Amino acid sequence: MTKITSICCIGAGYVGGPTMAVVAKQCPHIKVTIVDLNEARIAAWNDVDVNNIPVYEPGLSEVVAEARGRNLFFSTDVDRAIEEAEMVFISVNTPTKTYGAGKGMGADLKWIELCARQIARVSKTDKIIVEKSTLPVRTAEAVRDILHNTGNGVNFQVLSNPEFLAEGTAVDDLLNPDRVLIGGDANPEGQEAVQALVDVYANWIPRERILTTNVWSSELSKLVANAYLAQRISSINSISELCEKTEANVNEVARAIGTDSRIGPKFLKASVGFGGSCFQKDILNLVYISRSFGLQEVADYWEQVIIMNDHQKKRFALNIVKDLYNTVSGKKIAFLGWAFKKDTNDTRESAAIYVADELLNEQATIQVYDPKVEDKQIYADLDYLGTRSPDLNKKGVTVSEDPYAACADAHAIAVLTEWDEFIDYDWQRIYDGMLKPAKIFDGRNILDHKKLRAIGFKVSGIGM
Ligand code: UDX
Ligand code: ADP
Repeated sequence: MTKITSICCIGAGYVGGPTMAVVAKQCPHIKVTIVDLNEARIAAWNDVDVNNIPVYEPGLSEVVAEARGRNLFFSTDVDRAIEEAEMVFISVNTPTKTYGAGKGMGADLKWIELCARQIARVSKTDKIIVEKSTLPVRTAEAVRDILHNTGNGVNFQVLSNPEFLAEGTAVDDLLNPDRVLIGGDANPEGQEAVQALVDVYANWIPRERILTTNVWSSELSKLVANAYLAQRISSINSISELCEKTEANVNEVARAIGTDSRIGPKFLKASVGFGGSCFQKDILNLVYISRSFGLQEVADYWEQVIIMNDHQKKRFALNIVKDLYNTVSGKKIAFLGWAFKKDTNDTRESAAIYVADELLNEQATIQVYDPKVEDKQIYADLDYLGTRSPDLNKKGVTVSEDPYAACADAHAIAVLTEWDEFIDYDWQRIYDGMLKPAKIFDGRNILDHKKLRAIGFKVSGIGM
């Protein structure tokens, strides 16, 4: 039986970093080395001050402080870490393709392939390779193909072990997951590899929560889990628009339907639109695979979740324009929040980016405050869209480190992220500093609308 004493994880990002830090914390007898090509990122993970690690997650700094230097290491020496390990996790980025066949739909597997080739090149002993990144179904086959055809004659087993952590609650999700999913081959070697990974997780997770399946079911389950979650948000967001046209209130509707135990109360919060690195990418993958098998109706069905989400973001921006007398040209709009959700500094696919882009097209000026996102990230997000030159983005958007300064002299405030601190601001002070009529567009329905109206604000929420 393979007993794991040394793990390597390729990719020190939002998935690899927290996941492996928790594995190291819970398994002091296993040496865990996280490697990345990005030297600045590794240097930040190794910063003596654990508050400077590159991923912000509640509780993560403490986990890193406990395990780093004991059995948790961050390094740029990828070859050495691979060679030393019995088990190698691949946790690199798999963004949606921006070129060629499958552009805008399929996942770009360039980085996965590079990893597989590197593993094949440097391995001198048998290894278990674990896919951690979200991947299209049957990627394991491609990885296996590369390993077996270009390796040094050593044996590789390829497992799928998708990550279900949500950002902002990553440490809790990893310590106490609903389930862990491991997919492997049915043959004895495959099953031995599955058992080796089960044994790692069994150090802290009850055995009945560790599910094992074949590789393809595991890969597909990850896409389907995210598609179902995103679908719930698009469903409630579609109802929010209907609520705005009627006397219904989407919060009340969500509560009413959520108490049906078959529906359940979670993931029914209407919002300006979902973001994050997973939902859109995974659904696009699902759509792409379905289409490539000729399953047009299946593809169209899931694509609608994305179409609805894009509509919600655009609708929010256009509502602001409409409410400000059909023009925001030269007007200052304050953005509270830029991250795609609270308690993370991740901004990938954040609704804020798209709302800002629409408003900049309407010649608004925007001042952003986010408690955790750095200004260079905000500009990078806008520049990535390529809608206008970086100079014009810099001209249209300023970033403030103080929420009161961000809101001063603004015509309107837009709440884009549900950070808790926004709720308790001195709203009278903010009101006093704004142009009148002072408007708030609460894209997360987190503020106390009654209290704000009593101060004098004109408030618009989502779905009410
Ligand atoms: C998601 C999945 O939850 C996780 O299991 C998977 O591993 C990765 O993708 P994540 O994207 O980190 O996690 O965050 P999540 O909490 O799912 O939120 C995604 C987006 O949906 C955020 O923009 C959030 O604000 C939005 N959302 C979520 C809503 O708008 N309404 C809701 O009710 C819930
Ligand atoms: P995720 O949210 O999936 O963790 P990130 O983009 O945050 O995605 O992290 C992926 C990390 O993988 C990045 O830091 C990137 O530098 C790293 N990476 C990509 N390809 C390789 C590779 N071949 N070897 C080492 N690290 C890699």
